[in-house]
Amino acid sequence: MRLYQVTVVLLGLATSALGGGLVRRQATNDSCPGYTASNVQDDGARVTADLTLAGTACNAYGTDLVDLKLEVVYETESRLHVKIYDAEELAYQVPESLFPRPSSNDIDPADSALAFSYTSSPFTFSIRRKSTNETLFDTSAASLIFEEQYLRLRTSLPSSPYLYGLGEHTDPFRLNTTNYTRTLWNRDAYGVPTGSNLYGHHPIYFDHRGSAGTHGVFLLSAAGMDIKINDTDGQYLEYNALGGIFDLYFLAGPTPKDVSVQYSEISGKAVMQPYWGFGFHQCRYGYRDVFALAEVVTNYSQADIPLETMWTDIDYMYLRRVFTLDPERFPINLMRELVDYLHDHQQHYVVMVDPAVSNRDDVVSNTGYNEGVEMDIFHKNANGSGYYTGSVWPGPTVFPDWFHPSSQEYWDNQFLRFFDAETGVDIDALWIDMNEAANFCPYPCLDPEAYSDESGNPPQPPPVRNNSDRVIPGFPQAFQPSTSQTRLRSRQANGTGKYLGIPGRDLINPGYKINNAAGAISMNTIPTDVKNYVGSYQYDTHNLYGLMMSIASRNALLARRPNRRPLIITRSTFAGAGSHVGKWLGDNLSLWEHYRTSIANILEFASLFQLPMVGADVCGFGGNTTETLCARWATLGAFYPFFRNHNGDTSISQEFYLWPTVAEAARNAISVRYRLLDYIYTHLHRQSKTGLPMLNPLFFHYPEDTNTFSIEHQFFYGDNILVSPVLEENATDVTIYLPKGIFYDYWTHEKIVSNGSFVQLKDIPFTSIPLHIRGGSIIPLRAESTNTTTELRKQNFVLWIAVNETDQAEGSLYLDDGDTLNQNATSEIKFAYANGTLAMTGTFNYRTDVVIQNVTVLGSAADVSGNSSSGYRNGNLRVGGSAMVRGPISLDRASSRSF
Ligand code: NOJ
Repeated sequence: MRLYQVTVVLLGLATSALGGGLVRRQATNDSCPGYTASNVQDDGARVTADLTLAGTACNAYGTDLVDLKLEVVYETESRLHVKIYDAEELAYQVPESLFPRPSSNDIDPADSALAFSYTSSPFTFSIRRKSTNETLFDTSAASLIFEEQYLRLRTSLPSSPYLYGLGEHTDPFRLNTTNYTRTLWNRDAYGVPTGSNLYGHHPIYFDHRGSAGTHGVFLLSAAGMDIKINDTDGQYLEYNALGGIFDLYFLAGPTPKDVSVQYSEISGKAVMQPYWGFGFHQCRYGYRDVFALAEVVTNYSQADIPLETMWTDIDYMYLRRVFTLDPERFPINLMRELVDYLHDHQQHYVVMVDPAVSNRDDVVSNTGYNEGVEMDIFHKNANGSGYYTGSVWPGPTVFPDWFHPSSQEYWDNQFLRFFDAETGVDIDALWIDMNEAANFCPYPCLDPEAYSDESGNPPQPPPVRNNSDRVIPGFPQAFQPSTSQTRLRSRQANGTGKYLGIPGRDLINPGYKINNAAGAISMNTIPTDVKNYVGSYQYDTHNLYGLMMSIASRNALLARRPNRRPLIITRSTFAGAGSHVGKWLGDNLSLWEHYRTSIANILEFASLFQLPMVGADVCGFGGNTTETLCARWATLGAFYPFFRNHNGDTSISQEFYLWPTVAEAARNAISVRYRLLDYIYTHLHRQSKTGLPMLNPLFFHYPEDTNTFSIEHQFFYGDNILVSPVLEENATDVTIYLPKGIFYDYWTHEKIVSNGSFVQLKDIPFTSIPLHIRGGSIIPLRAESTNTTTELRKQNFVLWIAVNETDQAEGSLYLDDGDTLNQNATSEIKFAYANGTLAMTGTFNYRTDVVIQNVTVLGSAADVSGNSSSGYRNGNLRVGGSAMVRGPISLDRASSRSF
């Protein structure tokens, strides 16, 4: 039985709430004929139709496909799926194994928040929000083009829309709406230039219409594409893709957070990270030997700056070859001593692995290459002969073909051998890079010998340094002068026809040229005519390479340490990557501009793309930082989910202890971060279960407050802590927006009642950052910060109750062992405060000795919790009274206390 009315509108009478005459003129002027719908089958939840080319092919950039299919499914009350694909089912579709499709409830359209309607000739469709009758998507703006190598679909939009997403980019958080092209084609993007395609592929946008609601549109496609947003011919957004299909998911919202949750039902829920992963990480490219690493670890300790994890870039490798150690500079015995030292001090160790494997086998056995050859897992040349050879850090390199059925076994084997806990480099987590895949050798790669970095230099490790007179306090004998001269030379760490792509295309020079900043699509990557083991081509799968390496690496870490949560930080991502890994934002520069744009970039990943474990290189990667930039960045970075200082090999050193101001800023920032670690961990856990984002742009909390829509330099850390960094060089003031409601200064606990206004904060030292707590929230903090997260877990909690206008507040706390993949005992505690009573409810299965040692109602007469040492409003600090101690409150059962 037909359960709803399909709106068939006669040709020429197509209506669009947003389009108007201009839109229709564009469609008819277009020389492409579009498609005609026929054989419409409608069983209520599903509508299918045949689409047939409506006239003479326009062959805009190749050959028009004549026969398409339409499939519309009302999947849930808030999700509508529209798929337009080739009748022969040859065009590339992202495999289920890489992007599992969400299950559909096949609901009665009457229960859907959205309505699909179409015109049959030319075929156009629109999506409407039923509650407001607002048109959300309307393809009558231009004719549909579906060719072998070019797909176009345009939707009209209201003028000056508020759009967000379509990453990865460093453009404004609210996307430009005029003459703007967002290109998605993963690439190695040194300097992360605005306006260009970067490392990741996330074709989802949020369209925020204030009180009229927010919706999301996700295009499940791995194709390289330009998404054009413009206001000529009416405001529109237009997909221009090099292949694939139109596989569109419409997410009804109606709030921005609802869209996040609905997207998480498609992308997969964010993966839970180990507790220690929220500690502070130090890294750089260019630590020349293991002694340099030991010195940095010692220097952090001596400067009293907590260091959770030491990282090593490609420097540890023998001539930059993956799965090898430099026997002179990073000999295995000292590497093992270093890692043992770190572990003995409750610290962690991480190294980088690149996908590209050197094809050389001289001096140090290149097992990674030899075994790959034995298993034949590397990408072959396009003509099928020999391995495709490009050039990455070690010079000539081959690339694992992640589609090869043995690639996982190969990767597992490398990890099991090289990272063996007894004999190899006993890493705690993993950093994966260059997985766009990056290739320094330009297309066509005629001389891979000529390149091993962007400037074409062969690998040149620094000269071996005489470490005989270095003293590294606290480190074992092997690091001290008497033994360093005689240290051992290294013992090397043992150490599908269907959907696979339309045949016969020009895979190197498609007619339509996306605006790839690297130039042609094969430039500086694996050439797009290289065939994958399963029969698909890099042309269609290029954007999946980083995701596939991420999945293989996660599996390999799990093979090595089953049931331990792997922390993996990747550079290249695809939609859904957050359910496997975390990510850093690549090669930013030590610029105030990049410090500022990092905020929007972490929000994009954490709030829009469901990849919450994200951070930018603190103090900047390329170029030279300054004391004040690094100090401010330390305080901002403490509010990135992933907090790592990382630096380029030619930049001046920038460890936090090198300048007094930076050291003080870092101590303060890490202290606040660690005290709040369980608060943010609780939010990550919530995101991993529900999709509700752990970071929030202001408009997520205040979707009807137009002042918030373009704010990109402030954000909520968790739901309740508003972070408002100082933005300009040398400035000690910043103008921030405080939405309507009650806020409390984090440092002084001063209560602020805001009408929704911009306020200027003054005299903010370089060692601090403005933070405000939202009225209505209860914040669990550790009573003290500590040197490591292991110690932190032994600290008691305190609760800060930040009441709202009605004297109420609520909050939550999630507790688990912080490390196990499959937790068997967790606590999910809810706090609610009203009428002077604090109630604790929830589940209490995680056993812990720590308690809530005191409770403070912020801004009350008894509140003395303002912290003068790290705050900036010392002049306003309250004194007198005493904190409300009603403790200890145990964390193993429900209870309630009155104050
Ligand atoms: C590029 C990465 O983006 C950067 O972080 C790293 O230091 C270099 N590769 C060297 O491995």
